[in-house]
Amino acid sequence: MAHIPTTERDSFGSKIGVIAAAAGSAIGLGNIWRFPYVLGNNGGGAFLIIYLVFVVGIGVPVMISEFIIGRRSQRNPYGAFVKLAPGKPWYLVGIMGILAAFTILSFYSTIAGWTLEYLIEAFSTGFQNMTKSSLNDNLNTFINNGYRPVLWQLIFMFLTGYVVYAGVKNGIEKYTKILMPILLVIIIVLDVNSILLPGAGKGLTFLFKPDFSKINGEVVLEALGQAFFSLSIGMGTLITYGSYIQKKENLGNTAVSVSMADTLIAILAGIAIFPAVFSFGINPEAGPSLVFVTLPLIFEQMTGGYFFAILFFSLLAIAALTSTISVLEVVVAYLSEERNMSRKKATVISAAAISVLGIGCTLSQGPAPQLHILGKSLFDAMDFLSANILLPLGGLFIVLFVGWQLKRLDVLDELSSGGQHKVAFFRVYLIIVRFLAPIAILLVFLNNLGVI
Ligand code: PFF
Repeated sequence: MAHIPTTERDSFGSKIGVIAAAAGSAIGLGNIWRFPYVLGNNGGGAFLIIYLVFVVGIGVPVMISEFIIGRRSQRNPYGAFVKLAPGKPWYLVGIMGILAAFTILSFYSTIAGWTLEYLIEAFSTGFQNMTKSSLNDNLNTFINNGYRPVLWQLIFMFLTGYVVYAGVKNGIEKYTKILMPILLVIIIVLDVNSILLPGAGKGLTFLFKPDFSKINGEVVLEALGQAFFSLSIGMGTLITYGSYIQKKENLGNTAVSVSMADTLIAILAGIAIFPAVFSFGINPEAGPSLVFVTLPLIFEQMTGGYFFAILFFSLLAIAALTSTISVLEVVVAYLSEERNMSRKKATVISAAAISVLGIGCTLSQGPAPQLHILGKSLFDAMDFLSANILLPLGGLFIVLFVGWQLKRLDVLDELSSGGQHKVAFFRVYLIIVRFLAPIAILLVFLNNLGVI
């Protein structure tokens, strides 16, 4: 039985608060180190065009759908499906979302913890006199240490819990409204510095020069997968946030603003990183070593590098924190609404439970390789399970739910806030959620599983 809260449900207090929180969720590690590399390596401007088509054509409609489910039901992802489709098995989609939140946070908090270690390192040594091999050794020693990465991960989970514990308006909204503008200022400072470096143009060419010969089926599907992860769609984060959006707000506009902010920051991150990498004549690398080896090496050599290193790792930590908050909130909303717990108790219990799995993920990368499932380390397994299975499946069922299960008039009512706003493109939206998005997502899903 769903617990009916006796007090009024917490909600975001302002439109800007909604956008800060949802953009905070979307803008994360996925934007800052993953997007730039994927862009540069997959045809630059050509990839960007495809990515933008997916963000606009599929990302925004899925985001709107999550907001609709959340705001219509005024519940957490599980309770939302129970309330909107009583007696039907749709609630399983909500359970899947809560499971996805658990798995995402367990491995995401490992890397989030690393950003704190490197932030402290930037403050204390500024990576002075480090070489590429000593930076590589540094990263390996840190990962294999066990104790330090776990400690930072727990500190990061504590910070996440601290914000969520305080509530939606007094915690999530309050902190994201402070942190997101700081993030924007930092990235602009880093961009200006990067563009002014000698030879920066080569980095911009690497990022943006369209190379259509690199575009093939796999790259197209990669673009869709990246759009999903980056926009935080497919697992109920935005159902949960949607349930805190006031009835008068325009959901379509909100989704467009959040998606634009997410894409803008991803592009700005590329401009902060690649012109600097090329200016120093360094080969860009993929994945964590781009951020934790290549960039420190550049900061070590750059004028003002000490200062820029601190800014960069602050940027990463802030981006990660506003994302982890949104993921923890999914579990906390579920426990407090469905399991009759106070927000405070729910926060402590879920942060603790996720940390247990998280510690396993962290250790599986270094000192405890025996922690593996189906030939993957626990870390990689959680990454794979969430990004390649749970998110796309969740996204698929979310659009099918709004497209086929909810009544058309109810969807229109929610989108127009009960007739307060004009809804342009309603038919296009319906065609997308009924047909185009399900087909596109199914293709990515099957590709990720290696079926096609
Ligand atoms: N969107 C975040 C990023 O790009 O790093 C990651 C993320 C957060 C994924 C929340 C999914 C989610 F529900």
